[in-house]
Amino acid sequence: MRRLLVTGGAGFIGSNFIRYWVAHHPEDRIVNLDALTYAGNPENLAEIEATPGYRFEHGDIADAACLARLFADEDIDTVVNFAAESHVDRSILGPEAFIRTNVQGTFTLLEAARKAWGSAPDRRFLHVAADEVYGSLAADEPPFTESRAYAPNSPYSASKAASDHLVRAWHHTWGLPVLTTNCSNNYGPYQFPEKLIPLVILNALEGRPIPVYGDGRNVRDWLYVEDHCRGIEAVIEQGIPGEVYNIGGGNEWCNLDIVNLVCERLNELQPGADDYRNLISFVKDRPGHDRRYAIDAAKIRRELDWEPRHDFRSGIEQTLRWYLDHRDWCDRVRRGDYRHYYEHQYG
Ligand code: NAD
Ligand code: TYD
Repeated sequence: MRRLLVTGGAGFIGSNFIRYWVAHHPEDRIVNLDALTYAGNPENLAEIEATPGYRFEHGDIADAACLARLFADEDIDTVVNFAAESHVDRSILGPEAFIRTNVQGTFTLLEAARKAWGSAPDRRFLHVAADEVYGSLAADEPPFTESRAYAPNSPYSASKAASDHLVRAWHHTWGLPVLTTNCSNNYGPYQFPEKLIPLVILNALEGRPIPVYGDGRNVRDWLYVEDHCRGIEAVIEQGIPGEVYNIGGGNEWCNLDIVNLVCERLNELQPGADDYRNLISFVKDRPGHDRRYAIDAAKIRRELDWEPRHDFRSGIEQTLRWYLDHRDWCDRVRRGDYRHYYEHQYG
């Protein structure tokens, strides 16, 4: 039986992870520590709120006293660190929160684990990292392996890279049993609508322009969120402390092709007055926009026997249906701060 501290568990991937973990490891204790920023929503976990063994704690990973109390009270043996500021465009509008949570917060969490665990055996600190820390690939370059040099280009990816380096150093210096997973772009239910795929779905349904940055030819490698959660599970259970595992679906798409795919399927599922593709609007590019990300996941496939179970079309289909069925959730999460952000970002 494990006793997990999941940070950022009220966000997109964290809430999918907790739902997955409760379903597959019902005997485990899960403490979800989340600061409930604009991206965190306890409603994402409403269905498991009353599960015995689950506890929600409203708090900040940069709060050392709160962490010390949780480690002591709950005898935590496994940390899964999702908590982060996660959106590149927001990091360009205001990088400070990214340094505070992603760098200072991860530092505080590492220190809390080091102090609580000492040299106790069988502990695990899994840090959830991103492929963006490797920088941008040229069209003809092979996908990122774990040995690729870090070259972050946005304030978001620089802050994530900094946190990854801290995690590495806490292992090298003090032997903290860390594991790092660098994953490609996720999509699926509960993703905050500032990110590309839910933004396209909702703008199409609401008849708003669908903003495509630059020429729409930037490439991302998309993975269904549940496959990411299964990859994290495999690394917690079988990964070797100190090792890094890249997770990705080998599923590269350029943005414009995804936007067209989503619009075409929406035309069938929920036809509007006009073809949704007519809403596509090319807008000013994101400053420093990375051209291409792609993950080489050979190591986790080979060593931990992980592979994605969802192909892109079935994953997109499930995602579209989830957003169509959860319009109230979409309305609620876009209240307040999001409107200001949207106006600022898209005019
Ligand atoms: P998200 O923005 O949806 O959720 C982040 C969560 O962290 C929110 O619940 C928020 O309230 C919480 N949080 C923020 N600051 C906090 C703090 N100081 N203390 C405690 N909680 C705090 O993000 P996501 O898309 O679910 O990403 C989760 C993690 O996975 C992040 O570390 C991100 O860098 C990484 N990642 C994301 C992707 C992706 O495609 N979304 C891909 C690879 C890696
Ligand atoms: P995003 O979902 O923000 O993820 P990331 O920047 O971490 O990859 O964006 C995915 C891609 O979609 C990225 O190349 C930027 C592009 N994009 C747009 O073209 N328009 C938009 O409104 C958004 C939010 C993103």
